[in-house]
Amino acid sequence: MSEAPHILVTGGAGFIGSHTVDALMAKGFRVSVLDNLSTGYMVNLEQWDNHPRFNFVDADITQDLTAAFAKMVARFGPIERIAHFAAQTAVPISMDDPVGDIQANLAGTARILEYARHNNVAKLFFASSSAVYDDDAPVPVSEESRARPMSPYGIDKLAVEFYLDYYAKLYGLTYTALRFMNVYGPRQDPKSWYSGVISIFLDRAATGQSITIFDDGDQTRDFVYVTDVAQAVVHALLTNAGDNAIINIGTGVEVTINVLTKTILDLAGSASPVRYEPARPGDIRRSVTTMDKAVALLQFNPRVELREGLHATLAWVREEKNQAVARTGSGSAA
Ligand SMILES: NC(=O)c1ccc[n+]([C@@H]2O[C@H](COP(=O)([O-])OP(=O)(O)OC[C@H]3O[C@@H](n4cnc5c(N)ncnc54)[C@H](O)[C@@H]3O)[C@@H](O)[C@H]2O)c1
Repeated sequence: MSEAPHILVTGGAGFIGSHTVDALMAKGFRVSVLDNLSTGYMVNLEQWDNHPRFNFVDADITQDLTAAFAKMVARFGPIERIAHFAAQTAVPISMDDPVGDIQANLAGTARILEYARHNNVAKLFFASSSAVYDDDAPVPVSEESRARPMSPYGIDKLAVEFYLDYYAKLYGLTYTALRFMNVYGPRQDPKSWYSGVISIFLDRAATGQSITIFDDGDQTRDFVYVTDVAQAVVHALLTNAGDNAIINIGTGVEVTINVLTKTILDLAGSASPVRYEPARPGDIRRSVTTMDKAVALLQFNPRVELREGLHATLAWVREEKNQAVARTGSGSAA
């Protein structure tokens, strides 16, 4: 058996987690994924199925993880580093069920932190979010801007950042927390109502269904492509870059939803009608990050421009639809 270090990716069957698994496997690490498959899919990991350096454990971070950790250590030995993505990821769900959000995103994360503390884990990466900022934050938003979340989801992400700081000070834990802006790309689930706007719009444009824009469409977001994000995660996880730091990860480019929609319709050659509905509670008006800290600490340089990333994501959406047709003999995605 190879002596490559053993890395745990929680939530590794999900969108960003599975791209991170791909990057770690490509670098020759032994990788365990812990996931309860609530919003993740085994198909995202199918290329690693039966690989001698890959291990999947079906477990839920809201429950006791003793047996799950024992299984992983029995397979590949001590866990050297942890990338922690597993979470309840929908802001509206956190508003409907704050207790459930706390159980997954705060208490579940505390279980991972406790494991790291007691088992000499060299570094922990945490997937935080731009949802820690509110509508009054300056544009562009920097890590120095006041964090005052507008949802239980954002509150729990911010609370975890405080825990990370506390564990670093008291127990010598080394971590990096990356506050992702809007991440998009292949494997983002368009079937979920709570998914990213890009995956939903691409899916609808590809099938000629109507596209719904909440608010007037002049609200802005900073869209960052998933493989760029995975590279930032892997760099922070494997090196001492960004040690004990909290860093925004985006592109620094502010895009309106109207421009995004036009670009998607153009790329897809689609005549999908566009409808406007009132803004949803908790949605912020403008969102774009400064890049200074990500550049200084991680040398972060997102490579994939929006049009190119949309093109690749559209190709994936179409391929998914073709496969669904091949599987079911119908046009509806399974
Ligand atoms: N996608 C974005 O734009 C974005 C932005 C900011 C932050 N984030 C954060 O990045 C991380 C990954 O998000 P994503 O977009 O890949 O979402 P995702 O839903 O695709 O991935 C989450 C993964 O965690 C797993 N999971 C959920 N609850 C679990 C539990 N209780 N126990 C074990 N596994 C569980 C899911 O099955 C899934 O595989 C999350 O922490 C999310 O909050 C994402």
